[in-house]
Amino acid sequence: MTRTFSLLALALCATPALAGTTFEQVKIDAGKALFEAECRRCHATDSKDPSYGPPLENVVGRAAGSYVDYDYSIALSASGIVWTPAALRAWMEDNDGFMPGTKMRHVGIDDRTVQDFILAYLQSITTQDNSAISK
Ligand code: HEC
Repeated sequence: MTRTFSLLALALCATPALAGTTFEQVKIDAGKALFEAECRRCHATDSKDPSYGPPLENVVGRAAGSYVDYDYSIALSASGIVWTPAALRAWMEDNDGFMPGTKMRHVGIDDRTVQDFILAYLQSITTQDNSAISK
């Protein structure tokens, strides 16, 4: 947690000229730094880049296990859930408790503010309306 907070402080201090920057943009930038620290080693944000886990571009509103080129666990592909902000929070907090059998290693991000920042970033890399594929 200490590590997370110092990263957060770093992200906020490193943001040049906060004046004129919207609060939302500050959240996105902090979320990007947190994502780089906690998620990026396994997840690309552009589906053209290689990654160990499924790429997370356009993840908000996406049906779980729906990225066609990725070999998901049975637990994830059969879950039938949609990655709503609430589901993403539960996942960040305790992914293997939320979905027993997933092959994603446990992450335990239970701080709501940290979740908010990562969510703001995931939202910023979601540029398509996923409602059609998430029925
Ligand atoms: C050690 C590697 C690793 C780390 C770190 C990691 N993930 Fe994952 N993630 C995976 C793997 C592997 C899967 C596929 C799980 C499965 O098929 O059960 C996955 C799946 C996911 C999915 C489901 C995507 C889909 O297409 O259904 C989401 C959302 C996700 N991760 C978010 C995150 C976030 C947010 C973080 C950082 C807080 C993170 N992950 C950190 C390896 C990782």
